[in-house]
Amino acid sequence: MANVGMNAAVILLFLPLVFSNVADAASLRINGGIPTVFDVLKFGAVPNGRDDCSEAFVQAWNAACHHPGGNAKLVVPPGNYKLLPAVFQGPCTSEQIVVEVQGIVTGSDQVSDYEESQWVLFENINGLLVTGGGTFDGSGRKTWKYNDCASNPDCQPLAAGLKFMNVTKGIVKQVTSLNPQGYHMALERCDDIEIDGMHLNAPKTSPNTDGIHISASNNVRVSESTIATGGNCISVDQGSTNVPVPKVTCGPKVLTTFTQM
Ligand SMILES: *[C@@H]1O[C@H](CO)[C@@H](O)[C@H](O)[C@H]1NC(C)=O
Repeated sequence: MANVGMNAAVILLFLPLVFSNVADAASLRINGGIPTVFDVLKFGAVPNGRDDCSEAFVQAWNAACHHPGGNAKLVVPPGNYKLLPAVFQGPCTSEQIVVEVQGIVTGSDQVSDYEESQWVLFENINGLLVTGGGTFDGSGRKTWKYNDCASNPDCQPLAAGLKFMNVTKGIVKQVTSLNPQGYHMALERCDDIEIDGMHLNAPKTSPNTDGIHISASNNVRVSESTIATGGNCISVDQGSTNVPVPKVTCGPKVLTTFTQM
């Protein structure tokens, strides 16, 4: 009996340590309590891979973002959701916002559908977690032929798959980015960002599909991620500080095509 008691005490002693390690920037996730759920299906999204779900996504986002206080969670259940370029904009009144993508979000393969330099944009948000094990499929294959950056110094980059602008205290975790038109992920004017357990996947032949493009940002940590792509693995522009990159695999062997950084 004495032994059992001691073991329990030892375990209890270790628990807070484990949590404080995992937490770090993530601590805001644990403190905030159970989030209120906003399901895109309730906002009219049809997961058949054909109907445009942009409006439903943005409405669900706005409801979550303007949830008064507490945590809010935007949920994308399993299924295939066609999404035209969409902006998920803050500032939010919810304390923190979780975007849980379980399904596949599929972009348009028509370059003409993209007016800006990205597909999915998260902007002006303090306290964001994007996760859920789902996939953002940029449908970039048909668009790569329009990339002329190898010969044209003034080329317009194709749309980045996931862009984060002025996001602070952000975590992007366990999500797949597949075949973006341009960069898989782009960060601009962000601070305190953790990118973890990501799978960024595009063939070697995809031009300028950098894995993660970081500009004017501070404290970006990339870990435990696999990046297979045609451009740079991680590119850091001037004006960014403190960008350590431990445990990132560029071009894992299980994939047939890859580019090393
Ligand atoms: C950056 O985002 C915050 C919300 O996190 C917002 O209050 C601020 O106005 C934004 N800054 C700019 C320059 O848009």
